[in-house]
Amino acid sequence: MDKSLNLKRVPQTNHPSLKAWSAADELMVQSNPTNEETIGIYNDAFGYLTCHLANQNPFIITDLKSQAAAIHQNATNNDITVAANQFYLITDELPKQLEKAYLKIPKSIALFETYLQHIHSHLSSNGQVICGFMTKYFNANLLEMATKYFENVEQSKAKKKARLLILSGKKNRDNQPSFEQFQYHHLKLEQHKGVFSAGKVDKATNYLLQNIKQPKKYACILDLACGNGIIGKWILDKIEIEELHFLDDSNLAITSAKRNVKNENTQFHHNFDLSDFKENSLDWIITNPPFHFENTIDTSIPINLFKEAKFKLKEGGTLTIVANSNLGYESFLKHHFSQVKIEASNHQFKIYTCS
Ligand SMILES: C[S@@+](CC[C@H](N)C(=O)[O-])C[C@H]1O[C@@H](n2cnc3c(N)ncnc32)[C@H](O)[C@@H]1O
Repeated sequence: MDKSLNLKRVPQTNHPSLKAWSAADELMVQSNPTNEETIGIYNDAFGYLTCHLANQNPFIITDLKSQAAAIHQNATNNDITVAANQFYLITDELPKQLEKAYLKIPKSIALFETYLQHIHSHLSSNGQVICGFMTKYFNANLLEMATKYFENVEQSKAKKKARLLILSGKKNRDNQPSFEQFQYHHLKLEQHKGVFSAGKVDKATNYLLQNIKQPKKYACILDLACGNGIIGKWILDKIEIEELHFLDDSNLAITSAKRNVKNENTQFHHNFDLSDFKENSLDWIITNPPFHFENTIDTSIPINLFKEAKFKLKEGGTLTIVANSNLGYESFLKHHFSQVKIEASNHQFKIYTCS
């Protein structure tokens, strides 16, 4: 890493081994010949690629709002100019074809495919894709997926336990955004490829929905970290409410939730914190919170969300959380909320209600 660059993770984490870049990012930057090309940077976790390739005015394509914020913040802190009009969401069309795309391969193979589809649609016919990954996360499905979209799929030699996949020769195919569909009880759900819990309901979510108890006050609700919106959709189906908000860091998740929930009393927030809400404005916040960042367990993200939730709840409001029993949220919750009840538990999950 360029010693003069100072990069931080967003949202911040207390996890000691989580850095803001990896050897895979370094290898991708090293592969860059410094000629003038139209380049796109996909899934640049915290801005390492953008900061290094900024002089080529890249298009920066993200799914997570936190990722765009991290890239912007880290570039600004390092006196690197990145304009707002360089940022695009993975669901947006780019104004120009790319000659080269850089992609940090995500953990989810479905999300990898979603990125590849966007790249395939926006890359010139003789363009090249440089994908970076850490060798410990390699699996044969990556190659299979890459060959679905490109004729030539080459692997570089490993360096510092990182490797590149170099793709070229676009295959002739139509890339309509494809939605996965599934049924949960009588509810039909759809989601973009790459959204949490593909094709089925997550076990913790299922446990929550089967044991859900509405609190005394529930007029204004937030489905926090909503994914495809299943929790809010289930609630809307069961009880009459005034207002239901859905919030997720992933644009693909929010787009999916919008497809699943069409009620008028709903609002959707593409965000990674609760800054869209006033203090004392919500009656009930309900969540199956994130506790991974890519391949690492990191509970500092949900814990920050719980801290914010406390201030956004009205007097007498409730935060309901479903979590793996071993995540140990209890002492944190007891420290911050006056009442913490375990509403239900089994060998795997606990449902906490905090007020
Ligand atoms: C465990 S999943 C739950 C999804 C959905 N509620 C369900 O039950 O299927 C957690 C979700 O949190 C989202 N997420 C991760 N970090 C976030 C943050 N800081 N703020 C909001 N959402 C976040 C992820 O995109 C993911 O959709």
